[in-house]
Amino acid sequence: MEPLVIGNKSARLPIIQGGMGVGVSLSHLAGAVAASGGIGIISAAQIGFDEPDFYTNCSASNIRALKKHISLAKEHSHGKGGLIGVNIMTATSEYKNHVLAACQAGADLIISGAGLPADLPGLVKGYEQETKIAPIISTAKAARVILKLWEKKFQRTADLVVIEGPLAGGHLGFPQTELNTLTPDAYEKEIGEIMTVVKSYEEKLGCQIPVVIAGGIFDKKDIDHALSLGAKGVQIATRFVVTEECDAAPSFKEAYLRASSSDIEIIKSPVGMPGRAIHNAFLEEVSSGSCTVTHCLGCLSACNPAQTPYCITQALIRAVKGDVEHGLVFCGSNVSRLHQMTTVSALMAELTA
Ligand SMILES: Cc1cc2nc3c(=O)[nH]c(=O)nc-3n(C[C@H](O)[C@H](O)[C@H](O)COP(=O)(O)O)c2cc1C
Repeated sequence: MEPLVIGNKSARLPIIQGGMGVGVSLSHLAGAVAASGGIGIISAAQIGFDEPDFYTNCSASNIRALKKHISLAKEHSHGKGGLIGVNIMTATSEYKNHVLAACQAGADLIISGAGLPADLPGLVKGYEQETKIAPIISTAKAARVILKLWEKKFQRTADLVVIEGPLAGGHLGFPQTELNTLTPDAYEKEIGEIMTVVKSYEEKLGCQIPVVIAGGIFDKKDIDHALSLGAKGVQIATRFVVTEECDAAPSFKEAYLRASSSDIEIIKSPVGMPGRAIHNAFLEEVSSGSCTVTHCLGCLSACNPAQTPYCITQALIRAVKGDVEHGLVFCGSNVSRLHQMTTVSALMAELTA
């Protein structure tokens, strides 16, 4: 497999481990992926959840933890051929501060979705050589909008584009109705259209904009297929959860190993997008309308604590710490195909053999 070249940066293997919040992909997992030659992504979402002052000093604890995890992951993977990036969701209220902190801590890449990262190029100004930027998009329309906006407003383009399809885990960039009707063939057509949009900017601006495909990529065959569609790499998340190095509690990983396809549910998230998760007592409680929000950390710009069906931060924290019955366990569509634990190096070897 060819290395993934992103401007002046390069990873020996074209595999990005997708960012997983809250706390599922931190320095341990991301560092191990980068040490194996891939791109390890730390999720910035409420990353300070394990800091002693998280509930009293939320913003500062998040910034401190973000810088700490970037530095630990870089230290662990230094000189091993991989890169360390951060996933920062556009929907978060501390977006701007998290981008700046990631740049200051020397992140190689910022990947940004859950909305269109309209202001990202301006926020990384002065760090263009050190920190590359990539929007996550799901449709050709979104690709057109963000690349046009970045060119017009900032006279620059994306260093990388992540196309995330309907089979992904976490929040999904499609309306719920479309998720039920979109066939793999129809989505491949959309990928082709996104590639055409990206190519037009490459030609116009005389640069390379590598594209990676994410969502439901399980094995080497899927990677080869993504590369045959013109991608320069892939982003994979669900498979990395059942590794020894994944930062989630053992029972989170066990929930993945137990899940069957009938346990997978599309949920409505307070972020304002649908999400894919494992059915449990918590989701039953949400659908009965009996969840209450007792303390608001103000993490999402669009969330109103008086109206939200549940607090997503608290639900994700409960899950990552191991309370998988009363927390929100995000997963990708392939979760039911996972049957055993592995290690990052074994998984990377399997995916690239
Ligand atoms: C547990 C979990 C948490 C996730 N959290 C985030 C997140 O915080 N931000 C984000 O942009 N994507 C998130 N994702 C999406 C992944 O980064 C990735 O793009 C997607 O899951 C790829 O599909 P796959 O899981 O089928 O490989 C999450 C996925 C999972 C499984």
